[in-house]
Amino acid sequence: LRTDVIVVAAGSGQRAGDGIPKQYRSIGGRTVLRRTLEAFAGSNGIRHILPVINPEHAALCADSAAGLPGVLAPVAGGATRQASVRAGLEALADDPPDLVLIHDAARPFVSPRLVARAIAAAERHGAAVPVLALVDTIKSVPETGFIASGPDRDALRSVQTPQAFRYALIRDAHRLQTHSAHLTDDAAVAEAAGHKVAVFPGDPANVKLTTPEDFVTAERTAAADLL
Ligand code: C5P
Repeated sequence: LRTDVIVVAAGSGQRAGDGIPKQYRSIGGRTVLRRTLEAFAGSNGIRHILPVINPEHAALCADSAAGLPGVLAPVAGGATRQASVRAGLEALADDPPDLVLIHDAARPFVSPRLVARAIAAAERHGAAVPVLALVDTIKSVPETGFIASGPDRDALRSVQTPQAFRYALIRDAHRLQTHSAHLTDDAAVAEAAGHKVAVFPGDPANVKLTTPEDFVTAERTAAADLL
């Protein structure tokens, strides 16, 4: 089956500090986006990798993609993550894959094993996402400032990317959802369109880089990988 990857990288990513979007910051001499693109270029079974970016950063993206096999020319993202994914899905429509993996650029430590699990799960279930059991207890805290409820931790999972789908399923699901900006991942888009979304084991190393502290930790991880 033909499998393409959409790497969403059009966010402003400023919480990590120092002015440039986090996906263009360097870790151990390579940008976050380059590390992410390399991870997919080095995985089995991937045909094309499509970066979705803010066009203002086209030069930064070109540097990050230089020389990597399978990486397509980037397309412009939108105001929300959902709009950016939609732009990527539409850009693949002329030469559609059978399966598509949708991945946040801010998760550069995605491994070939996790990619293989994602492909297998998409083939089997049509829609599937990587999850981890929770370490922390989660509470809902409304504006009163007091705890309203605490869902049963045993049933909760945190959700990562790459999220994996049959291409036509997730493209059509996104086409139905143009007005709902509150859907923060593609599993929610698939669910809203009436699809069941399966889960497969995520990877604790596959963290989403968000804060300055995340970058400190990531530098250490990158240095340890060189040993
Ligand atoms: O901000 P957050 O880390 O949740 O964003 C997740 C991913 O979605 C990031 O890789 C970011 O670049 C991407 N994104 C996007 N377009 C937006 C907002 C976020 O591609 N408008």
